[in-house]
Amino acid sequence: MRTGNRRKAERLRRLFPDEVEYHRDDDFVVTCPTRLCFVPTPIDAVIRILERLRPGPEDLVVDLGCGDGRFVAAAAYLCGCRGVGVDAREDVLRVARRKCETLGVDDKTTFIRADVREVDLRGLDPDLVFVYLFPSLLRELAEELAACGATVVSYTFPIEALGPARVLKLGERRRAYVYEP
Ligand SMILES: C[S@@+](CC[C@H](N)C(=O)[O-])C[C@H]1O[C@@H](n2cnc3c(N)ncnc32)[C@H](O)[C@@H]1O
Repeated sequence: MRTGNRRKAERLRRLFPDEVEYHRDDDFVVTCPTRLCFVPTPIDAVIRILERLRPGPEDLVVDLGCGDGRFVAAAAYLCGCRGVGVDAREDVLRVARRKCETLGVDDKTTFIRADVREVDLRGLDPDLVFVYLFPSLLRELAEELAACGATVVSYTFPIEALGPARVLKLGERRRAYVYEP
C-alpha cells in the first residue's frame, strides 16, 4: 500500500471501529434491537477486499444492508467510487451519512432507507455489490444479484445459487466470496 493510502486506511480504522458501542451523543446505537442486526465487517477486511478488487472512480458500488456505511465510504474514500448504501434502519444510515461527510465523500455517496428485497438493483446498474447478510436473505436476493450484471462480494456467507466463487482469504478465519457476472 502506498503511503497516502496507508494514511487513509488509518483514518478509516479510527472512524469505523470493529467494536461498535453505545455513545451518549448518539454517534452509535447498535447491535440487535430487532431482527435487523448490525454486525460490522471489520474495516481491515473492507480495505483488503477493495485492494483485491480495485474498483475505480467510474464504478458504482452498492452495499445492500450497509449498516454504518463503511464499505461504501471506504470505496469512495480509497478508490474514488460512487456508492449507494441501503439499510432498513434509520439510526445506522444517520451514522453512515455523517461519517461520509467527515471523510468528504458525501458528494459521491447516497444512503437509502429501504428493505433490500425491494431494491431495483438492475435499475441502479452497479459495478460492484457488497453484501453481509444472513444466508436466508441471500437466498431471497440471489436471483436479483445474478441478474444485475455486477461483481457480487458476499462477506462470510457464500451464495450457492450464484455458482462457484472465488474465495478471498482476509485473515485466519475471515472469507469473502466473489461472483463475477
Ligand atoms: C451484518 S450487518 C452488515 C453491515 C455492513 N454491510 C457491513 O458489512 O459492515 C447487516 C445490515 O443489514 C441490514 N438489514 C438486514 N436485513 C435487511 C433488509 N431486509 N432490508 C434492509 N436492511 C437490512 C441490517 O439493519 C444491518 O445493518
